[in-house]
Order: sequence, then structure tokens, then C-alpha cells
Amino acid sequence: MRKKVVIANWKMNYDFYETTSFIRNFLKFIFEKKINHNKEIIIAPSFPFLHISNQISQGTNLNIAAQNIHQKEKGSYTGEISASMLKSIGIQKVILGHSERREFFFEKNNILLEKIKIALKYGLNIIFCIGESSFERSNDQQFEIVKDQLRKTVFCCTPDEIKYFYIAYEPIWAIGTGKTATFEQAQTMHEFIRSLFLERYGKNISNEISILYGGSINDFNAKDLFYQKDIDGGLVGHSSMELKKFLRIVQS
Ligand code: G3P
Repeated sequence: MRKKVVIANWKMNYDFYETTSFIRNFLKFIFEKKINHNKEIIIAPSFPFLHISNQISQGTNLNIAAQNIHQKEKGSYTGEISASMLKSIGIQKVILGHSERREFFFEKNNILLEKIKIALKYGLNIIFCIGESSFERSNDQQFEIVKDQLRKTVFCCTPDEIKYFYIAYEPIWAIGTGKTATFEQAQTMHEFIRSLFLERYGKNISNEISILYGGSINDFNAKDLFYQKDIDGGLVGHSSMELKKFLRIVQS
């Protein structure tokens, strides 16, 4: 049975106090209220706070993820973070391919494939982001864009490696804009993505892979989105930074 998953991507927003107090209050609320949300919950804070976040969430079912890694194992890459560094502080998951990395840091598919390979070498789970721009969607190119992104990255992996992946479909035009994809648009794309996994890897993997939606999820639209057959949860930005809103999304 596929996991329902909700991931908070805090991007470059929270400082030490905001990160630690949010996580402590979130855990307090979930455990004190014994909220049965039957989902996997992951929070992705900024690099400096990964270790403390992991310590606070030890022994709970809250997982902590990094927002990126460098594509090389070690070396003279000032300011960069490696997969082995994450592993050394107990971080097991990483977001890769986010549209903001692709756009602002020029991460092309070949670089992302190197990041995937190094993440897999260290046994990290990968939350891999794909999605089209508003221009591409206005030209009805969204399906070929998503297929091409998968073909040049994730689909270069073996069936055994695929079990380390979550896929996050994040239409770029919905990220941070308040213009959420309709649940029909999202379900249609998720169904298409799942069909690509069926074609490439067969029935078992296509049934098991968690495909999440991302792009202006909030506590009003989460329920309709998560109810869809091929939407296995969400990758949440802005709405994950308000505790009560995030709790309502988790309970959707
Ligand atoms: O990675 C999730 C993020 O890109 C979505 O952002 O603010 O549209 O929920 P937001």
C-alpha cells in the first residue's frame, strides 16, 4: 500500500529559534492530541538546523530532510554540502531537482543525475521534483516536459534504486503563486506520471511509488488533492510554515 506523505519545504526562511520551536510545538500537538494522521511527515529545514531538528525528532515518526546536496562526494567546493555529511548527522532524505534549484542555480538534468547517483551511493531517500512552466503548459507541452525530465534522470536508475524515490510533481506556475493546480489537472498529470513508471518498471513499482503534488497547497485544497487516486500527498511551501495550517493539511 502506497504511503500518504506530507513534506514541509521551508526553503530559506526559518532561523534556529523558528525551526526548533515549530518542530517542538508540532510534535507536542501531534502526540498530546494523539492525532492519527496515518501519513509519513517530513520537514525540510535549512542546512544549519538539520542536526538539531533530527535530535528533537528522534524517537518520533517525524522525518527530517535536506533541501539539496552537491553532486560530488568531497572536494574544494566552498560552501557546499555533501551526501556523506548528511549521512554523518543521521539525515536520510533529500529534496533534489526543485524548480528553484533548476532556475536559480542552473541545475540541468545531467547535474541532477549526478546528484541522484551520489545520494543513492549513501542510501539517501530522494524527493525528486519535476514540473512544467506556465509557458510550457500554455503550449500544452506539460506531458512531454515531465516525461523528458524523468527520462534523463530518475529513469536512468535500476528498479531496485527506485524504491528510494518519492516523486513530487510541482507545476512551476503554481509554486508560491496561490494558483494551485485544480485537482483534475493534478490527478491527470499524476496518472500520466504513474503510467510512465508502469511502462518503464512494471506494475509493482508503478503501484508503489509515492507521487506527491506541490504548488500552493493550503488547508482548504489539501483534502480534495489528497483524495485523488494518484495523488499520494503533498510537498508544501508557504502553508507549511504556519503550525495550525500545517496541522490541518497533515490531517486532511
Ligand atoms: O517544494 C514545495 C514548494 O515549491 C511549494 O511552494 O509555497 O507554493 O507551497 P508553495
